[in-house]
Amino acid sequence: MGGASSGLRAVRPYPGSTTKYSMLHVLNHPLSAHILTHLRDRTTKPAIFRTLAYQVSLLLALEATRDLATEDHVIDTPLEKATGRVLARPLAVIPILRAGLGMVQPFTDLFPDVSVGYVGLERDHFTAVARSYYQKLPLLAGKRVIAVDPMLATGGSAVQALDVLRAEGATELYLVCIVSSPEGIRVVEAAHPTVPIFTAALDRELNDMKYILPGLGDFGDRLYGTEADSRILPRHN
Ligand code: PRP
Ligand code: URA
Repeated sequence: MGGASSGLRAVRPYPGSTTKYSMLHVLNHPLSAHILTHLRDRTTKPAIFRTLAYQVSLLLALEATRDLATEDHVIDTPLEKATGRVLARPLAVIPILRAGLGMVQPFTDLFPDVSVGYVGLERDHFTAVARSYYQKLPLLAGKRVIAVDPMLATGGSAVQALDVLRAEGATELYLVCIVSSPEGIRVVEAAHPTVPIFTAALDRELNDMKYILPGLGDFGDRLYGTEADSRILPRHN
């Protein structure tokens, strides 16, 4: 995967699934590349943006649960007794507010018994340091706990959220992001070396304001139509 280190400015259409980061899994599917391109497009309006966020999160949800434990379950088919497999461990999904909310529905659609908790964090526009403003969590012990946040930039928000989830009893922790930066991956891997990270894109770098390049801008603002209320993002080309 050369996207992070090659300095190429172009958006890579088909990210590879292997990288130099040991815990990182990058989606490798033409549909994910297609969705990402339209998410990145600044002319994409919030209604379409929300649909695209749902779609790529669905692909990520499938990847991040590919290795879920299953156990035998005996049922009667209309013809005879049979043994099938069912999910053996409960699942919890924890969106990092606010933008993480745009990634929750695929998990609740796919896993009807999933528990949902919330960690509210907001990055300061000038320092890029996240402050905590809300937390409501289900029982985490014994569950696969998947933190979802579309943007992994400096990694500060993700590390804070993972710290909270660990402290609240999560042992099987996963992180799912739509777009990640090399710096964010390094910071999360350093603080939480056992946490698998699933992402749809590993982008090039952060800009001076700690936004991901090429990125897609402010995910929360684009998801909720609040771009006009926020500071205008600087363009780099
Ligand atoms: C964004 C994003 C992440 C964070 C990533 O949220 O959704 O939570 O920034 O940046 P980091 O890796 O440098 O911490 P933001 O704080 O803008 O809040 P929002 O979701 O309410 O828009
Ligand atoms: N948060 C966003 O929404 N986008 C970025 O590029 C970085 C942080």
